[in-house]
Amino acid sequence: MNQGVSAIRWGGSYLELLDQRLLPLDETYVRCSNVAEVVDAIREMIVRGAPAIGISAAYGVVLGADERYRNQPENWREGLLEDVGALAQSRPTAVNLFWALDRMKAVIDSLPDGESPVARLEQEALAIHEEDVAANQRMGELGAQLMQGEQPFAVITHCNTGSLATGGYGTALGVIRSAYKAGLITRVFADETRPWLQGARLTAWELVQEGIPAALIADSAAAHVMKSGQVKWVIVGADRITANGDVANKIGTYSLAVLARYHGVKFMVVAPTSTIDMQLATGQDIPIEERTQQELLKLRDMQLAPERAQAFNPVFDVTPAELIDAIVTEKGVILNPDPAKMAEHMG
Ligand code: MRU
Repeated sequence: MNQGVSAIRWGGSYLELLDQRLLPLDETYVRCSNVAEVVDAIREMIVRGAPAIGISAAYGVVLGADERYRNQPENWREGLLEDVGALAQSRPTAVNLFWALDRMKAVIDSLPDGESPVARLEQEALAIHEEDVAANQRMGELGAQLMQGEQPFAVITHCNTGSLATGGYGTALGVIRSAYKAGLITRVFADETRPWLQGARLTAWELVQEGIPAALIADSAAAHVMKSGQVKWVIVGADRITANGDVANKIGTYSLAVLARYHGVKFMVVAPTSTIDMQLATGQDIPIEERTQQELLKLRDMQLAPERAQAFNPVFDVTPAELIDAIVTEKGVILNPDPAKMAEHMG
């Protein structure tokens, strides 16, 4: 199964990340050889997308382990836990980051002093990466099944949830790949996703490569497009899903959900269980990242707004569970999510 471009490449002693700040104009891989470089790559959005951030952080721990063990073979643990702490500070909203670091920490805790932790940690990071791809492929099948039995129709997606945002294949974009292959989808409307333009720069790039008919729309065109009647599903990813089924995702997702309910369009969230945070009761508890005002005030180096203008740039919002028709994970489908269904799904 074609899983799209490999945005994350593990080289054994370094990590290569396709620089998503430069796409689609430039396809350049950035090499990270230590933890600080991985922290920087996540913070600066060289790599972005919830699962991709988690996978990259896991590889970052392997780089940290190698350096700490070489410098202090008898006492690598303390320094490595500091590295884990630094990685955890890189971005706040996507829970996959903390989930992956917890998995790496569990391995660290299980290893003896005085022996190299590198091989075992590398094995865990590779497993996190491979499991993500497998989860995406399974979600692709499940999401496509959910859409079966109707005439082919158009869908709207938001942000970038494809190979670039994950270990490969994608979450919402994975469902779109599978559904298109199954003949269920006529066309994808991809929101440009202001202000960082994940839709225009990244999703459009992946859809063009895949040959899936797609049209980019301004975020503000979604209501108009839904009103035309050609769209049956909105399909998005998630950065964190809480115990009641609320979903944090790229800013603008909540507006799409409100619009979808008004227009009778169904709303599907596609995310692996690594995105579900059962520790948080509701979406109100999710830390929402604010990024620099410059993302709004400028387009690359070009000033868009008056020099002294101020901007407010929250980059995620929370969609309440009641607006969500289905959450698709690798374990199955949760229809009309609520706390009981979420708890049952998570076992
Ligand atoms: O700020 P980003 O680009 O990291 O935000 C990414 C998103 O909001 C995605 O929709 C989400 O992570 C799901 S990706 C599989």
